[in-house]
Amino acid sequence: MTRILHLTDLHFGFHRQALVQPLLDRIAELCPDLIVVTGDLTHRALEVQMAEARDFLDRIEVPLMLMPGNHDVPLWNPLARMFWPFAGFRRYFGPSLTPIGRSGDVRVLSINSADPYVWQRGKIRKGEIGRIIGGVDPLGTNIVALHHPLQQLPRVDKALARRATEALHRLEAAGVHVVLSGHLHRWAMDDLLKTGRHPRVLQIQTGTALCARISDRWNEFVLLEIDGADVEVQRHRAPMDAECFQAPEIAAFSRASGIWARV
Ligand SMILES: [Fe+2]
Ligand SMILES: [Fe+2]
Repeated sequence: MTRILHLTDLHFGFHRQALVQPLLDRIAELCPDLIVVTGDLTHRALEVQMAEARDFLDRIEVPLMLMPGNHDVPLWNPLARMFWPFAGFRRYFGPSLTPIGRSGDVRVLSINSADPYVWQRGKIRKGEIGRIIGGVDPLGTNIVALHHPLQQLPRVDKALARRATEALHRLEAAGVHVVLSGHLHRWAMDDLLKTGRHPRVLQIQTGTALCARISDRWNEFVLLEIDGADVEVQRHRAPMDAECFQAPEIAAFSRASGIWARV
């Protein structure tokens, strides 16, 4: 069995400081094989915020995969935004913006969906879909991780990332089983599967792990326990008025029939 922990939207600089230690404690308790952090590590891509996020990550003794979100690109420095948008991210979080991870028979492939030329909306760059398809393991479980969702429910008022629909169709056809994303600060999983549009991809849109925005209502992260064609999703939540994570809500899925179903 492989245990993948998904963290997203830490927003260091506008985060709940009181939840930092409880989050680190829960991560240590869960002892995952790999942690995937899908962007918005900082709130405004400032040096001090990157240093704070790095300090948090350095306290985790598990292999990490980190990719940028739209908040990790400098907002107030147009020159940096235009000419070296990911320099700060690379300096603090590692040279690759699209790391690849493997644990057991699970492969995690990441996409950098942050677009320095627009503020919110993401994009899937030309060639990225082919690169991911080339990395799919035909025998294992394949996870794609990125900041921006590839499908959004009608309730979402943000623009879908460019090429997201094409990407999801092609990744599903190529054997990608799970897509992890953030950005919306709002949970979605079953409702996406129920749309019936991509029954072979379990999309998990996780809310923010640490952002202090009260309207987000709670902070959360997920742990996936993957065992062949079966996956158990543990959603760990901390309400905004609580300084600890509650016992997880657990959902089990299987793709043994070829499409994902709750078990
Ligand atoms: Fe965010
Ligand atoms: Fe975002």
